[in-house]
Parts: sequence; C-alpha cells; structure tokens
Amino acid sequence: MYALITGASSGIGKAIAYELAKKGYDLILVARREIELNELKTNLESNYKINVVIKVLDVSLVENCKKLHSEVTSLNPYIVINNAGFGRVGLFSEIDLETELSMIDTNIVAVQVLTKLFVNSMKDGIILNVASIAGMLPTPLMATYAATKSYVLNLSRSINQELKNSGSKVRVLSLNPGPVITEFGQVAQTKQKMQGMSAERCAKIAVKGMLKRKSVIVPGLLMKIMRILVKILPMGMVMPIAYKIQNKK
Ligand SMILES: NC(=O)c1ccc[n+]([C@@H]2O[C@H](COP(=O)([O-])OP(=O)(O)OC[C@H]3O[C@@H](n4cnc5c(N)ncnc54)[C@H](OP(=O)(O)O)[C@@H]3O)[C@@H](O)[C@H]2O)c1
Repeated sequence: MYALITGASSGIGKAIAYELAKKGYDLILVARREIELNELKTNLESNYKINVVIKVLDVSLVENCKKLHSEVTSLNPYIVINNAGFGRVGLFSEIDLETELSMIDTNIVAVQVLTKLFVNSMKDGIILNVASIAGMLPTPLMATYAATKSYVLNLSRSINQELKNSGSKVRVLSLNPGPVITEFGQVAQTKQKMQGMSAERCAKIAVKGMLKRKSVIVPGLLMKIMRILVKILPMGMVMPIAYKIQNKK
C-alpha cells in the first residue's frame, strides 16, 4: 500500500517517511531537492524492503499538483500527507510580498488542490494535512504563516465532517505541531536556535494519530495545554503573550 508525502526531503516529512516505512508502506516522496530525495530512497529501500517512488517538483505550482495526482493515481495511495510548507518570521509590514504569496501557494493552494483531487479519487484512505499550533492562535510576527495554517486546520476539519456525514471511507485529518527541530527555523529566518520536539517524536505521534483517524492531532502535552488555554483565555490576554514568544525568534 502506498503513502504519498510532500515535503519529504527533510524534517517532519522525512521522519514520517521512516515511520511509515517501518510499518511496511511503499512510499511516494515529493520535494524540490533531488539529491536528498534520492539518498532517502536508497536508505529506505535498502533498510525496509519497500518501493519508493520519488517526484521532484515544486508543489506551489497548481499544474505540478495536478500532474502529481495524475501520475500517481495508478499507484492508488491509501495515505496522502500534505506536509510541504514554510514560514517566515518578522513584521507583516517588512516581509516581502513575493515570499508571502509563495507561502500561500505552498501552504494553502497546494493543500487545496491535492486534497480536492485525492478526496475525489480515493475510495478509502487518509489525507493528513500538516497545519500548526500557530493556526490555533493569533501569531504576531508570523501573521501570514499562522493564517495559512488556520486555513489548513479549518478546511480539513470541515471536509472531514462532510465525509463522515456522507458515509465516505476517506478522512481528512490535520497535524498541528508546536515547535519541532527541523530546517523550518532556518527557512523562516529565525534568530533563535530552534528548540522543541524532535521530528522523529512528532512523526511517531502523527502516524499513530493518523492511523486512529484522529481528526485534529496535537503532538505533546505542552501544546495540548496551550490549545486549551487559547480556548479559555480572553484574546486580549493571549495576544501580548504570543507577541513576546514570537519576538524572541
Ligand atoms: N518545525 C516546526 O516547528 C513546525 C511546526 C508546526 C508545523 N510545521 C509544518 O510542518 C511542515 C514541515 O516542515 P518542517 O518543520 O519539517 O520543515 P523543513 O525541514 O523545512 O521541511 C519542509 C519540507 O517542505 C518541502 N517544501 C517546501 N516548499 C516546497 C515546495 N514549494 N514544493 C515541494 N516541497 C516543498 C521542503 O523540501 P524542498 O526544499 O526539497 O522542496 C522540505 O522537505 C510544514 O508544513 C510546516 O509549516 C512545522
């Protein structure tokens, strides 16, 4: 059975690839960096006796997402993980518009297109969209990134309910990690060295939750507490705290 993972060349996506390989899934791995994907394919195939197909492409282009879907339909993936994404830390007024539009294309548009195509072509299976704890609360100094992840979280929840009500066997779930040590911080241009959960731990929790078909997966006790606090505390109290945390980055 195949699982497709976008953003598999590093971080959470790569760790999920190992986690699923251990469980015997064949893999379709997607990212822009060919060397990293090839290395990963060699490692996974020799250690886990699985088939790995790599697709070197940029998911921020709609035509690439459509091409990807049509190329893998014959492999009939049971799991699709929309994980490719990136953020940028800084003042909204200072982050350049091109970076933000590219972020929206990668974090939102690609997820929208691939979710739509796979929801309609899958008969049974799981689509896991990687959102973030940042999508659950206002996040000054990462405003656009947090907004993209709110979109992914809410889109996934709504579709999942529609699928449940229609009796479909397909599920659309979301993974909402707090800080995870990956290349994310470097890409987001944070000044602070990244601290948080390991990508391996995040991947383990993600795969366990996904196979249990948990609608909203939040890895780690601290982030679960954070989620509750955000729900019960007044926004006026949450915002300055969120600003302080982000400002350190
Ligand atoms: N790390 C965190 O603290 C954290 C927390 C919450 C949520 N997340 C989310 O988790 C996901 C994975 O991030 P990560 O932390 O693992 O960061 P990462 O190590 O930077 O990995 C990002 C992955 O996405 C791929 N990617 C980025 N843009 C792409 C594009 N246009 N087309 C195809 N692939 C693309 C990258 O591969 P190439 O560069 O080779 O294309 C890479 O494999 C992201 O959606 C991120 O927003 C991360």
